[in-house]
This record gives sequence, C-alpha cells and structure tokens, in this order.
Amino acid sequence: MNSESPQKPLLTGVIGYPIAHSRSPAVHGYWIRRLGLRAFYVPMEVTRVDFPDVLRSLAKMGFRGVNITVPHKETALQRSDSLSDEAALIGAVNTLTISSRGKIHGDNTDVYGFLQNLRSANSGWSAKDAPTLVLGAGGAARGVIFALISDGAEEIHVVNRTRERAERLKNDFGYRVTTHDFSSVPSLVPKMGTVINTTSLGMENKPSLTFPYEKLTAGTVVTDLVYTPLNTMFLQQAEAQGCVTVDGLGMLLHQAAASFYHWFGTQPAVDANVRRAALGA
Ligand code: ATR
Repeated sequence: MNSESPQKPLLTGVIGYPIAHSRSPAVHGYWIRRLGLRAFYVPMEVTRVDFPDVLRSLAKMGFRGVNITVPHKETALQRSDSLSDEAALIGAVNTLTISSRGKIHGDNTDVYGFLQNLRSANSGWSAKDAPTLVLGAGGAARGVIFALISDGAEEIHVVNRTRERAERLKNDFGYRVTTHDFSSVPSLVPKMGTVINTTSLGMENKPSLTFPYEKLTAGTVVTDLVYTPLNTMFLQQAEAQGCVTVDGLGMLLHQAAASFYHWFGTQPAVDANVRRAALGA
C-alpha cells in the first residue's frame, strides 16, 4: 500500500497543558470544513514530561504540523531542527511544520497575527507613526515588541510590575525600548499613538488593570491581547475616551491563518464567520 496516497488525511493540531480552553480547534476545524480539505485538527493535552516523546512521534504518526501553546513554546524552540528568525529572536515557537522527511521547522506566527490584527482593524496603521506603550513584559510582550520593531517602531515604552523583566526586554531589543514604573504611566499615555495590554490582567477570574483612562486621547489605537472576555474593561474604557479599540481575538485568528498557510498552502479568510466559530456562536 502506498503510504503517501493522496487519500491520506492531513493531520494537524495543538499541543498544550491544559488544552480544553483552546479556541484553535474551532478555528482550524471551521477552515478545514469551509475549504473542503481532507484534514483534521486535534487538541492534544500533553505534560511537560511527555512533550519531547510526543514531539518525536508526530512525524511517525503522519502529522503535517502543530500549534504549540503554554507551557511548551520554549521547549519546542529547543527541539526544532530549524527556526524562523522570528522564533529564534523571540525565544518561543507557536507553530511547527513537519517535512516529509520528519524534520521539524519552528516558527512564531504571533508576530504576523499581532500586526495583521492592527492593520486590518485600522487601515494605514503602522508602528512607526507614533510612540507605543506596552503594558507587561512576559512572553506575549516579547512577541509584541519584536513585531513593533519589525514594523519600524522607533519608540516603545514598556511598563511592568516586575521592573527587572522589563529591563531584560530592553537589553534584548535595544535602544528603541525604554522601561518605566507604573507611576510614570499617566504622563506617558497622552503622547502614545498605540497602547497595548499584554498582561493577563482583565482576563476572566483575574483582577482588572488599573489604568489612567482619562489621559487617553481620542484616536489612540488601544488593543488588548486578552480575549476572554472579548470586550475587556480596558477596551470599554478606552472606547469611552474616543480611542480606536481592537480586540485580541483578531490576533488569535490571524496567527492561526498564518499557521494554516504553512501547513496547507492556502490562506484562509479571517472574517465574521470564523470569528463566530471561534466564539462558539
Ligand atoms: P505571557 O506569556 O502571557 O506574557 P507571562 O510571561 O506569565 O505570560 O506574563 C504575564 C504578564 O502579566 C507579566 O507582565 C506579569 O507581570 P510580572 O512580570 O510582574 O509578573 C503581568 N501580570 C500578571 N499578573 C499581574 C498582576 N496581578 N499585576 C500586574 N501585572 C501582572
């Protein structure tokens, strides 16, 4: 029997721990059905201990690629046979593509997802136009800062509860990044063209973000990486100040579209239908 039969379904999926909350199976499943592909996208709950074995088995099981989520993004980077520049510089992989010879290529499509979300919500938006304020200095902030710099940002201000983490980002990304304490936020905010929440504050069951909303000026672009809830308090308050708000679900959808393209060679549409599918509506 020919194991490379064209009838063989393409296997893809997402690996994380936990995985039950992931919206990716709904998103990719929707596109697979919509495009009529003979393919599957499987959620896989895998512990840190088992992850290296599972990774080695993917090629043998015939997987074309997988998304990688918490807590495996750094291990996936270490275990990839080759890496994109984005993945190497950010230090995290969210998409693996497996060649027919079983070689694993690691990429980070969060960069594309972040930029594409802002560009498609505000035509003409560019990080180079005005200073940007980034709240948070964790893994998500690393991807965001890489994206902003790759889009030509000259001035990025980072504020984080733990100042040393922000300093580490400054050391890694250089002179375009300036770090501050939360006490400086009120004086910074009026000068910003874009404000981004990369912290987990405002997420369901987490405390909300304390922010000087009254300092925001109309027209400032405000985005939140948190998308549960979709319309966070941060976005609601910014909207009340006349800001242009962009929710975090778009970033998830655009990064998923880039992963999908890696595996299937087709760019799926990021539209209202896939948003509904992601929300389970
Ligand atoms: P991710 O990969 O999603 O960025 P992370 O690396 O754990 O996750 O980072 C979470 C971010 O939210 C960090 O900036 C964190 O601040 P610290 O570096 O000081 O931990 C921020 N964060 C989480 N809970 C917070 C809280 N209660 N107050 C302020 N910042 C908080």
